[in-house]
Amino acid sequence: MVVKKLVAGNWKMHGLSADLVEVKAIADASRNYPGVDVALCVPAILIERAVRAVPGFAIGGQDVHHQEKGAHTGNISAAMLLDAGAALTIVGHSERRDAQRESNAEVKAKAEAGLAAGLGVVLCVGESLEVREAGKAVETVLAQLDRSLPEARGGEAELAIAYEPIWAIGTGKVATPSDIAEMHSAIRAQLVERYGEDGAGVRILYGGSVKPSNAAELFGIHDVDGALVGGASLKAADFMPIVEAAAG
Ligand code: 13P
Repeated sequence: MVVKKLVAGNWKMHGLSADLVEVKAIADASRNYPGVDVALCVPAILIERAVRAVPGFAIGGQDVHHQEKGAHTGNISAAMLLDAGAALTIVGHSERRDAQRESNAEVKAKAEAGLAAGLGVVLCVGESLEVREAGKAVETVLAQLDRSLPEARGGEAELAIAYEPIWAIGTGKVATPSDIAEMHSAIRAQLVERYGEDGAGVRILYGGSVKPSNAAELFGIHDVDGALVGGASLKAADFMPIVEAAAG
């Protein structure tokens, strides 16, 4: 199945008011690529300003709490993201699984909360270097996915998976095309097993040191339906060549 590619930027803990010019530049330039879905996941506090700056362009959050509301100091609910104008959110990024000790069960609950509220959800999985070197990358990622995937794929909101090998994030190292192809096809098989035909339409993004110089090769790999881009999404000059590569 050929799906429209999604190129999403993850700004992580970067982005002040002054950087809204980059959001604007990316949103404006993205209009030239109607065949690619483009989104930027910015810090929560910047979402509303970004949405106002670029109406109609997909702005997302980087995390969501699994509960609707309550005594959860510092957390942000799906309804709050929507209220700020977000269209999607990332869940289960390895930086949160690590630093915030997020479990697969929590990530699953977050994905379900986001989808139930009508937010697109980009669910991240990925293995450590130790696991990769032990030859256990595929089984580890599939186990992580099995426990993190939302139960059902009902509703309109879109689920996407981002395969991000932890050792490739921010390091300049990228998994080999054959390793990526193997992983994405294993993820695809699990999605189809879980969701039936709907699983064939779930986009599987690659993430980890995606740059203008390697994007075209990555997008040429079977079952790579887009990218989740960190560092290279902060500036339009770096990000737009990646979007262009996705347009083919
Ligand atoms: P880099 O593109 O900076 O390696 O980050 C990838 C990532 O973690 C995106 O979520």
